[in-house]
Amino acid sequence: MDNLAKEIEELKRERNAVLLAHYYVDDAVQEIADYVGDSYYLAKVALKESKDVICFAGVSFMGESAKILNPDRTVIMPDQLADCPMAHMVDLDKIQKVRDEYDDLAVVCYINSTAEIKSYSDVCVTSSNAMKIVKSLPQKNIFFIPDENLGRYIGSKLPEKNFIYNDGFCHVHTSITADNVKKAKEAHPDAEILVHPECTMDVVELADYVGSTSGIIDYATASDADKFIICTEMGVLYELKQKNPNKTFYSVGHRQFCPNMKRITLENVRDTLRDMKNQVELDETLRLDAKKALDEMLRIAQ
Ligand code: 13P
Ligand code: SF4
Repeated sequence: MDNLAKEIEELKRERNAVLLAHYYVDDAVQEIADYVGDSYYLAKVALKESKDVICFAGVSFMGESAKILNPDRTVIMPDQLADCPMAHMVDLDKIQKVRDEYDDLAVVCYINSTAEIKSYSDVCVTSSNAMKIVKSLPQKNIFFIPDENLGRYIGSKLPEKNFIYNDGFCHVHTSITADNVKKAKEAHPDAEILVHPECTMDVVELADYVGSTSGIIDYATASDADKFIICTEMGVLYELKQKNPNKTFYSVGHRQFCPNMKRITLENVRDTLRDMKNQVELDETLRLDAKKALDEMLRIAQ
């Protein structure tokens, strides 16, 4: 362990802190995190961990969700500018317009969203539980926000529902094209194609497996295949290689890096723990309103 990692270990003990990291952050941060996972897993860990401080190596909506669920604990973010652009890609007027237009409507909000958007929604979902949650909802009409692509993927599997889509997107996943995937498959015909549902439908249709970051890692680990074309952010390679040292993973394009996730470094994890800065603060009314949608997700998904 190098000096910086030792310093972080020491600070975690001093502060009684737990370090959570998403699969898209740098390898060095994943290596020293107490828990690494997808958005759903990390939300559950934040809830069950009893440490005084949660240091969240991820983007704003992740720290915000941890704070919404844990108001009495201190949640700190290594870089306050690490934000997911998709989290802002719907406005409250649009939600209200759709509410006015449809009876029997559920506003289903991807966890990649601001606390304010969550507070106007009925239930949150992540890519690993969206299918189960939307399927179980009594409402026929589903306004899926903010991500159009995850919405269309879930919608394609649930024809009994009437989906209304929003035009939000993840620039990392939509940079992967069907042409990229076909070329990668030509170059590696034995490889299986693993796709995150934030990709566009023409990419999803080429997949051998579609799922969240954890889903992709679990699928590759269980598969008899030994080569895989990875259609998501390349941070997942760290865990894929840890779990599967004898398997080969190919990236599909050249832009599979989330610049916001990559803002998290060992240095800013250390500085944040040392100075206890970048604490997530939320207005209490907003927190309670946003919590309803997260609680509903946790209740249905368990
Ligand atoms: P999951 O880890 O839940 O699949 O989410 C992917 C993502 O884009 C997080 O920002
Ligand atoms: Fe947002 Fe996409 Fe980055 Fe995830 S990978 S944080 S969805 S921009």
